[in-house]
Amino acid sequence: MAEERAAEDVAAEVEHLRAQIETHNHAYHVLDAPTVSDAEFDALFDRLVALETEHPELITPESPTQRIGGAPATRFPTIRHPLPMLSLGKCTTMEELREFDTRLRRLLGTEAALDYACEPKIDGVAVRLYYEHGQLQLAATRGDGEEGEDITANIRTLKSVPLRLRGENWPERLEVRGEVYMPRADFTAFNVAARAAGERELVNPRNGAAGSLRQLDPAMTARRPLSMFCYGIGRIDEGWPLTSHVASLERLAQWGFRTNPETRRVTGIDAVIDYVETFLARRGELDYDIDGVVIKVDDFAAQDALGVLTRTPRYAIAFKPAAEEALTRLVEVDFQVGRTGAVTPVARLEPVFVGGVTVSNATLHNSDEIARLDLRIGDLVWVRRAGDVIPQVVRVETDQRPDAARSIVFPDQCPVCGAAVARGEGEVVARCTARRSCPAQLVHGLLHFASRGAMDIQGLGEKVVTQLVERELVADAADLYQLDVETLAGLDRMAEKSARNLHAAIQGSRRRGLARVIFALGIREVGEATAAALARHFRSLPALWEADEDSLQQVRDVGPVVAREIAEFFVQDENRALVERLLAAGLEPDPPPELPVTAPLANQTWVLTGTLEGLTRKEAKARLQALGARVSGSVSAQTDCVVAGPGAGQKLADAERHGVPVLDEAAFMERLRELEA
Ligand code: IVH
Repeated sequence: MAEERAAEDVAAEVEHLRAQIETHNHAYHVLDAPTVSDAEFDALFDRLVALETEHPELITPESPTQRIGGAPATRFPTIRHPLPMLSLGKCTTMEELREFDTRLRRLLGTEAALDYACEPKIDGVAVRLYYEHGQLQLAATRGDGEEGEDITANIRTLKSVPLRLRGENWPERLEVRGEVYMPRADFTAFNVAARAAGERELVNPRNGAAGSLRQLDPAMTARRPLSMFCYGIGRIDEGWPLTSHVASLERLAQWGFRTNPETRRVTGIDAVIDYVETFLARRGELDYDIDGVVIKVDDFAAQDALGVLTRTPRYAIAFKPAAEEALTRLVEVDFQVGRTGAVTPVARLEPVFVGGVTVSNATLHNSDEIARLDLRIGDLVWVRRAGDVIPQVVRVETDQRPDAARSIVFPDQCPVCGAAVARGEGEVVARCTARRSCPAQLVHGLLHFASRGAMDIQGLGEKVVTQLVERELVADAADLYQLDVETLAGLDRMAEKSARNLHAAIQGSRRRGLARVIFALGIREVGEATAAALARHFRSLPALWEADEDSLQQVRDVGPVVAREIAEFFVQDENRALVERLLAAGLEPDPPPELPVTAPLANQTWVLTGTLEGLTRKEAKARLQALGARVSGSVSAQTDCVVAGPGAGQKLADAERHGVPVLDEAAFMERLRELEA
């Protein structure tokens, strides 16, 4: 009898230890919130091992001591998935996400915003777990979606995977799906150790996870730092009233599975896009690699209504931002000449899809950049395009340089007009020295002249300007004003009506303000803001061109460099001639209106409080307003001054609290007289 009781006690203690160990494991590996010290945990574990050694008949496969069990396998048996493991449709742009939403609402016949679950797309290995009576029976890889491999022994070593379900209430049969991955920090640590030991390093965390799961000896897998996020239920007994994806994830968490804390339920596609943008911007902070965001219709009834295409569900999509760098080949380098004569090398590339668009040209900036890249024609190059930024060549695969690769020769003559190309002392940019007689400089100069912030001549685009220059109809901007409708109508693809419109647009631009005209001249370093400041200061073109560098520097924002560029511009005869011809053509640039002399209390906020003896509140307010002040009824940190007469209460206290200056009536009157003088 005594012996029997003892056996029962042992069994009870074993079970109690297992429950404790599972709880601590769950806290540590699933919730990321450890509840005991390592030493305490080890003590519990050692006690369990000791009892099981003494009573082997008590060992069960679900015991935490049995995560690593069994002999190494010789191969992984193939497992057919009872329900295929689907893959996801993909999109790379927000526009496509909106189309996805529009399509689903059309199919569902609803105008209403849909609820979506948004979650990270973990870059790991897809795995399916099968539980019967709450116990892990089988784990399989996704394989081709129809058949995978039985990796149960290896999955059992992952402490984030429950060997038995937690809680009291679970289905008899449950299939859970998720992604096994290697945390980045563990990946790095693993490689550091491997390097130190002279062992093979892992290529990246995903390969690390895949390779670890394919170890024939589970003891090897156990040594690899793997974790698992579960993202859905495959099959479940009937009678579990789960109505939505997010609700099912909450269930999974209750049963002891690790679910991703970044998952959110949001309403409407705008909120989805918001999630995607915010989440992707934070991806560097995560301890795991992702390859996008998965967006799923949350409501199960709607999921069922939408159904599944051959291999992908209609109700879900993966958003994968297009890679911002791609590898392609440099076919040729051309040289372009800009408005200021700058000769810019342009890479002609084998077309490549990068940053969401197909790119076949990239800027190479200048000859220093070509040298820095060590670039040859024929090289394999990395092209980068992020956002709306112009595509750039960022790196060259010099190791894979073909024998036939050619050096890039920077021209010493302008590729357009043949004039000498020179590089000013200390400058990185080489320029064609021909100025406006170079057709390329002229074309770009005219385009600048006609551009929106300058003379704003609608219809004067690159095709028209190029023809005007090629046919020698225009040699500078002033010539534009001599063009008649007939001449314009004679250009290729220029209908009579467009010619008339263009003519009217050119003539109409004569009355543009002085600031636009100064900007339109295309003086180096003179942007729109500087042009506006110059216009306000000098008030006419002749006054501007007579100005010497010293007086130019009187203008706000004009320093020595800008002053020199302006002075040099007007030293050149052809520029003076251009200005004269523009004026002769009827340009009447109006100077900007004089700025009103600013009121002494402009932008200030004053508050009156208490009683004033010598004048009424109304009078005081009127006189302050006449000086440009706003008079407000309450005091804040933004208040500039408080006038406090006898009886001032809360407002005076507020002024002191905010450190706002306070005047009594005498000081106030004094100040008014000063300011009104
Ligand atoms: S749902 C029916 N959710 O992406 C939808 N998949 O192309 C099935 N993946 O290899 C997948 N994170 O393992 C889903 N949060 C997530 C995911 C995710 C990663 C993987 C999945 C599969 C691939 C789908």
